[in-house]
Amino acid sequence: MNYNFALVGASGMVGKKLLSLLEKRALPINNLILLGSKSAGQHIKFQGSSIEILDLASFIPENIHITIFAAGSDPAKEYAQKFVDAGSYVIDLSSYYRYQESVPLVIPAVNESSLASLKQPCIIANPNCSTAQLLMVLKPIHDMFCIKNINIATYQAVSGTGEAALAELDHQVQYNHQDHKIYPRPIAFNAIPQCDIFLENFYTKEEMKLVWETQKILDKNIHVNATCVRVPVRNGHSEAVFMRLNNPTTRESIIELLEGAPGVKVMDNPALLEYPTPLEQCNDTEEVFVGRIRVEEIADEYWASMWIVADNVYGRGAALNAVEVIESLINLNKI
Ligand SMILES: NC(=O)c1ccc[n+]([C@@H]2O[C@H](COP(=O)([O-])OP(=O)(O)OC[C@H]3O[C@@H](n4cnc5c(N)ncnc54)[C@H](OP(=O)(O)O)[C@@H]3O)[C@@H](O)[C@H]2O)c1
Repeated sequence: MNYNFALVGASGMVGKKLLSLLEKRALPINNLILLGSKSAGQHIKFQGSSIEILDLASFIPENIHITIFAAGSDPAKEYAQKFVDAGSYVIDLSSYYRYQESVPLVIPAVNESSLASLKQPCIIANPNCSTAQLLMVLKPIHDMFCIKNINIATYQAVSGTGEAALAELDHQVQYNHQDHKIYPRPIAFNAIPQCDIFLENFYTKEEMKLVWETQKILDKNIHVNATCVRVPVRNGHSEAVFMRLNNPTTRESIIELLEGAPGVKVMDNPALLEYPTPLEQCNDTEEVFVGRIRVEEIADEYWASMWIVADNVYGRGAALNAVEVIESLINLNKI
């Protein structure tokens, strides 16, 4: 059977990658409706046809099986439920619904079971880009060695803030300018220890997303401490992760485990200077890359350190995860 799809935010950075993944993975699409606001009236090529972007505000959903919202929190808040009421599953990439208890927050390779119990069309949330790549690596380690707590520092790419942020970076580099609108400081030649807004507890919202989402998806007992930093990398988030394990382990066991983990690619050979970097690995790539794996025994406790890199737009952090959620819904006969 083929399905009717709608994509809100088709003209955006994630929307474009979603379109190329839907084509590449040959999802069974009968009809695809593209939606936006300012871009309404523009045309986008998909599978050889030119599709006009329609205005979300005046669109009446009907006979749509799957809708992807890749447009931010405000449109999701205002319109997503309208699509559900009209019988469509909605996969939302914004943070708006993620922390509502009744909304499944899903990485298929980690917690596909939360889709299995769904009885009718509903909103399904895609996790934050930093959490998604982190949990692909942590899931097999937690199952085998039981993670107690995690310290993480992120090095987040400018593409994570959308098209306008990349334009700001390019402008600052090209003209050696310090003017900035998107970020609280110039991003070119800099590192900004603030992603998203500050909360009352002195952590940023991006840091707390890592806490809330790790606990919702993987295990509510894992303690997470995060520092999120925006760096002038165009695409690809990196993470330095340090975790305390309940069970003894070795570097070799973790490498062996991760080599068998779905969607994860180990690149770890210090003798050959082999480790992942965002520049080299994040060019429309699907894998989560991991290297610099180290294990230490400290006072009878086992601590593992590693470096995790993934494409935050095309890959696990956004488009790929949403497409895999759709594939799971189809495989589980939910639509
Ligand atoms: N970039 C990432 O790394 C990343 C990772 C994970 C999740 N996400 C999430 O993915 C979503 C899109 O991010 P992005 O980076 O692709 O942003 P973007 O490049 O700024 O694109 C935003 C898209 O949303 C559409 N849009 C905005 N307001 C709208 C409205 N009121 N009605 C209909 N469409 C509207 C825009 O269409 P018009 O031009 O027509 O207004 C545009 O297509 C966000 O929810 C973001 O949090 C992004």
